Amino acid sequence: MNSLGRLFRVSIYGESHGDGVGVLIDGCPAGIAITKAEIETALAQRRPGAIGTTPRIEQDEFAILSGVYKDKTSGAPINVFIKNENKKSADYDFTRATPRPGHCDLTNRMKYFDYNDPRGGGASSGRLTAALVVAGVFANKVLGDFISIKSELVKVGDSDNIEEKIFETAKERDSIGGIIETRINGIESGLGEPYFDSIESNIARAIFSIPGIIGVEFGAGFQGAKLKGSEFNDRYIDSNATKSSNNSGGINGGISNGDEIVFRVAVKPTSSIARAQETFNFVENKLATLETPGRHDVCFARRVPIVASSVAALVLADFFLIRLSQKEYNNYANSRY
Ligand SMILES: Cc1cc2nc3c(=O)[nH]c(=O)nc-3n(C[C@H](O)[C@H](O)[C@H](O)COP(=O)(O)O)c2cc1C
Repeated sequence: MNSLGRLFRVSIYGESHGDGVGVLIDGCPAGIAITKAEIETALAQRRPGAIGTTPRIEQDEFAILSGVYKDKTSGAPINVFIKNENKKSADYDFTRATPRPGHCDLTNRMKYFDYNDPRGGGASSGRLTAALVVAGVFANKVLGDFISIKSELVKVGDSDNIEEKIFETAKERDSIGGIIETRINGIESGLGEPYFDSIESNIARAIFSIPGIIGVEFGAGFQGAKLKGSEFNDRYIDSNATKSSNNSGGINGGISNGDEIVFRVAVKPTSSIARAQETFNFVENKLATLETPGRHDVCFARRVPIVASSVAALVLADFFLIRLSQKEYNNYANSRY
């Protein structure tokens, strides 16, 4: 469904070309200081504007409808609504006959028996990631200043030269994917549960919820599979459990080990491309050529780093609250015996 987390529970709603998108947060502790400016700063990092991003610029005007009183969380459910602007819905009428290859026009129609809102990808649109970014601001506040989460676009296609590769691709009226690397510092050991609620499985679930993600790897990831144990093992080198390397990406047995948590995210090339591609016309029942109209990101991976950091913060804030309750219970139990 549309919710994530147990103690810090986040639900998102809205459509790309509806009135707006938004987020509901249940379980955010009371008394956390938050300003509109902090939310604005985070949203600005997701907004297009750089080369290779869509000309559909949204101002991301938002309203905090509940849960914040006198610039502090009140403990009540938080609801933040972000207005949609700059919509051109006629751009999407073509998807009925010629659903975009690689996109979810057809799967959404089939799943929702044709009742879905097809405009701009409807409820599946990357637009909803604005709501995730807002939730991330609250989650980061729960985690506190001593935890840092940074994500960076490290590759576009097979190139490290991000600007040049995007520029070349745009000239070909095509699109391109990329790889984002996220590094998280300051997470103490003991967060995460073995098996179904491992840190990896929860982060991966949250990251795969971002539209257009096609892969996630932790630590040495797929390269690690090529190593021998003697090369892969992160050797303990002192009594503080300092390690010689971090091939495990800061997680052992699904539990944080206190080292930097590192993961990489593969983002697909944007499905909506301006150059002609062969597809099927389902109304005329014949092969057709599609040149996707509308305004699209040539490389939407450019806009994903802040989203990846935000969803990582959501997952970690949830685990952090769970861990605090486990520690509190342990203290309580120790004081009784
Ligand atoms: C921030 C962001 C912006 C996006 N912009 C576009 C876009 O302009 N055009 C497009 O076709 N897809 C775009 N996408 C990707 C689609 O939303 C995604 O491919 C689609 O919803 C289908 O989901 P799937 O790729 O996970 O199958 C964007 C995704 C994100 C996260």
